[in-house]
Amino acid sequence: MTSPIEGFSKLTKNEKIEWIAEHYTDNSKTTKSILKRYWNSENKLQKLHDEFIENTITNFYLPLGIAPNFLINDKLYAIPMAIEESSVVAAASKAAKFWLDRGGFKTKVLGTQKIGQVHFMYVGDTEKLIAFFKSVKSKLISDAAHITKNMEKRGGGIKEITLRDKSNQLKNYFQLHCTFETLDAMGANFINSCLEQFAKTFKKEAQIFAVFTETEKDIEIVMSILSNYVPNCLVRAEVSCPIHRLTANASIPAREFADKMVRAVNIAQIEPFRAVTHNKGIMNGIDAVVLATGNDFRAIEAGVHAYASKDGLYTSLSHANIENDIFKFWIEVPLALGTVGGLTSLHPMVKLALEILHKPSAKELMQIVAVAGLAQNFAALSSLVTTGIQEGHMKMHLMNILNQLGATNEEKQVLKQYFKKNTVTHSAVVEAFEKLRKEQ
Ligand code: MEV
Repeated sequence: MTSPIEGFSKLTKNEKIEWIAEHYTDNSKTTKSILKRYWNSENKLQKLHDEFIENTITNFYLPLGIAPNFLINDKLYAIPMAIEESSVVAAASKAAKFWLDRGGFKTKVLGTQKIGQVHFMYVGDTEKLIAFFKSVKSKLISDAAHITKNMEKRGGGIKEITLRDKSNQLKNYFQLHCTFETLDAMGANFINSCLEQFAKTFKKEAQIFAVFTETEKDIEIVMSILSNYVPNCLVRAEVSCPIHRLTANASIPAREFADKMVRAVNIAQIEPFRAVTHNKGIMNGIDAVVLATGNDFRAIEAGVHAYASKDGLYTSLSHANIENDIFKFWIEVPLALGTVGGLTSLHPMVKLALEILHKPSAKELMQIVAVAGLAQNFAALSSLVTTGIQEGHMKMHLMNILNQLGATNEEKQVLKQYFKKNTVTHSAVVEAFEKLRKEQ
């Protein structure tokens, strides 16, 4: 068994590679060669990546694809997507093209409120705590002025601080529940710095609040941290068109297609097993753009799924209906995104992705990302309720297998034709490929 290592972080990059290759892989020479093949030959760029995280040994590539032809509020976008899953970019592009001829996507930001909390324990009379909070609230804000000054100049800052009594659910537990406007920044550092300052002031002032007993003065701050649940940092994206225009999928009539789409959404609204997969498809689009634009997809995932269960049942993020022969399909998602700060100014690829998107504000990016999610959902449901999902997936699967086998472009063309009529399985592709090679 391998023994633990002391001081791994202090080793050089080469020493780290030596160690991991020797202790955790079968062939240390191959390991070293793979890891080094992914280094960037430009030293400056590699150093930048090395310094994003700790203990970097190499880079881990994801493809960056472009889904063009997105008409959003009458403006055309080509959306960069970083994702490894085949079919996602193709599906987004297909949905974009479909809606391009039908008025495009309409979007609206419904709110931009971010949340942070100071969690604390207080043992004593709740009325006295309320009185203390009232007396200290303005000082909480003024003591944080050195953090909020610049943000306020630009129109953002602390919006509200409320005291929340949670002691019914957890003995002695209370919160300072705080709302912020962080404009184009995702705002994590800003919010967390404000919260830590609130906590300091709150604890200090409690110690000299005359009405408190000694026990009451001794407020215990448990933690101060932003929340990734942002139900009021919300964006809506929508498409709609007369039913008779839903003809692109010729495999079934437009009316039947519309009805089936609505039914598919209705199922995801009441059935959590389906809703999770339905929303996963939406996140295929959302995460890919969030990642390409240097935002934190874990934060987005956590917040979105919490929102999907906000009424006590995990449900669909998208909605659909038919009214007066108009098919309408829309989504509402919470997206706390930034287009300044963090990776956005550091990562050359992120900068480029934002440039491709016409250098959006955070609000504009929220709308673009919501559209990517809705488009993905439209494409997935369109396939599911007509041909089934495997047809498209198998085309991509076929190409992946052929690439693995080292097929030439000519061979790919022949086998693509062949598998239009035959079922794609790994062994069937290998067999057909070998047969073709022998025939040549
Ligand atoms: C696969 O990545 C996503 C889908 O499963 C989404 C869905 O079922 O709606 C196709």
